[in-house]
Amino acid sequence: MKLFLDTADVAQIQYWKEVGILDGVTTNPTHLSKEKKSPQEIIKTICALLPQGDISVEVTQQDPQQVYEQAKAIAALGKNVTVKIPCQLQYYPIIKKLVAEGIRVNVTLLFTLVQGFMMCKLGVSYISPFVGRWDDNDINGIELLDSLRDMIDSYGYETKILAASLRTVRHFHDALAAGADVATVSPELLAKSVHHILTEQGIQAFTADWAKLGITQFP
Ligand code: G3P
Repeated sequence: MKLFLDTADVAQIQYWKEVGILDGVTTNPTHLSKEKKSPQEIIKTICALLPQGDISVEVTQQDPQQVYEQAKAIAALGKNVTVKIPCQLQYYPIIKKLVAEGIRVNVTLLFTLVQGFMMCKLGVSYISPFVGRWDDNDINGIELLDSLRDMIDSYGYETKILAASLRTVRHFHDALAAGADVATVSPELLAKSVHHILTEQGIQAFTADWAKLGITQFP
């Protein structure tokens, strides 16, 4: 499974890049709205930080033709840019056109198996099922991942499942277990997910026991 960082915070992307586990970044208008620099500058910086990574950048236009033109301009920001487009019927024709023109598309704000099926038929690179926003409405979002996985494997589609809107360590765990191709995780959740109290306690116990030996040089 690939791991993407769900943020436009360049400092966090730099940090997790140096940790050595980062395969890409997903941004969205909300993430970019939190940064001080211009979206163009932020995206170009991220693309330069992860030249081998996959950087998702979302359209902000509403009209289909304007979305199409903006998608082409976003794709031109870097060869590692993937264009994010919301999963709406009015965008199906332009998504199909963009795919035919060789532009990588990540369809976002996806909430049902049927939506996922339609995007697979359009041949998009990624679908982003929003797990957490289903859970916000008392529906098990992970079940959507399971059904998408089964559908794609049953019919042999190439589209990758990019599990998004992951709010908890359990969501991250379940996305892995569901066989998502990618998980996109906020910096806060990633930090929480890699930490474990039993590891910390174990290190403390080993250190305390070793100290009893009074050995200063080893080996
Ligand atoms: O990339 C999609 C993700 O940022 C949405 O997460 O927490 O706003 O539902 P959230």
